[in-house]
Amino acid sequence: MSFPAHRPRRLRQSPAVRRLVRETHLVPAQLVLPMFVREGITEPLPIGSMPGVVQHSMDSLRRAVADAAAAGIGGVMLFGVPAERDALGSGADDPDGILNVATRAVVAEVGDALVVQTDLCLDEFTDHGHCGVLNASGAVDNDATLERYVAMALAQARAGSHLLGLSGMMDGQVAAIRDALETEGFVDTLILGYAAKYAGAFYGPFREAVDSQLTGDRRTYQLDPANGREGVREALLDVEEGADIVMVKPAMPYLDVLAEVAASVDVPVWAYQVSGEYAMVEAAAAHGWIDRRGAILESLTGIRRAGAGAILTYWAVEAAAWLR
Ligand code: PBG
Repeated sequence: MSFPAHRPRRLRQSPAVRRLVRETHLVPAQLVLPMFVREGITEPLPIGSMPGVVQHSMDSLRRAVADAAAAGIGGVMLFGVPAERDALGSGADDPDGILNVATRAVVAEVGDALVVQTDLCLDEFTDHGHCGVLNASGAVDNDATLERYVAMALAQARAGSHLLGLSGMMDGQVAAIRDALETEGFVDTLILGYAAKYAGAFYGPFREAVDSQLTGDRRTYQLDPANGREGVREALLDVEEGADIVMVKPAMPYLDVLAEVAASVDVPVWAYQVSGEYAMVEAAAAHGWIDRRGAILESLTGIRRAGAGAILTYWAVEAAAWLR
């Protein structure tokens, strides 16, 4: 009689055994909720391509962050949608700009329960939609942009942000901002480097979420989706420049980069499950083509397994409720 020499199925025989040998665990504290707050509205506005996600008014934002804190998630990442934009993105470092106003309100509401985080990038605030300022020929000017990022960083730190999410992909942005924070005495402000942020199609719904004015693409600053080694290099540079945490974004198409970055740096590594990843699952589930809850939890587990310590996900609060 022949029989299998090995029986790995023994480890899968019952829910109890499977639970005992499970390698990867998801807990609410590892989830961060990205949130949008729009200037000048009194009721939340739905975002068509992201069912279940809204542009918040100040009031609905306060209520939603209280819910997020009650759900036990790790933090919130705030994005501002200003009423007016200009070439320099002046609303970004204006203390009365929507993101800074919202940050003060959120810190006052839940500052002890959540890590309050702010997106540090100019694209929501510029009338051309680029993440930086443009030179005379219309190209994104790296070093001129760094000056704007430093002003934005200080405005966010003064507003009480615990963690600055540097998502602009300018060279030297972490070093410039770390230096300014130290000089101004903000020694505890955390820097998350969106170290390996790839240019591509998965940010589509986000552009609607922030009313992006962009017409071209971001391929001169965000990474080429074909390049893994370059993503690791960016992560190493961000750590060297003083990032406390580095991130890979989007998540699911870049799990190999995530694993490689996690193996290469000695700081926490996060991943951003972006708007397009969210929209795909929601759209398929709405058609009855996929099991929504199963797909959400499987995607989050896969991202954790690949090496993410925490995940930015629009499902953070809902998933937290399932996980408790
Ligand atoms: C830049 C920024 C973007 C996202 C987060 N920060 C947009 C972009 O790079 O075009 C996208 C997030 C998502 O798609 O969910 N401020």
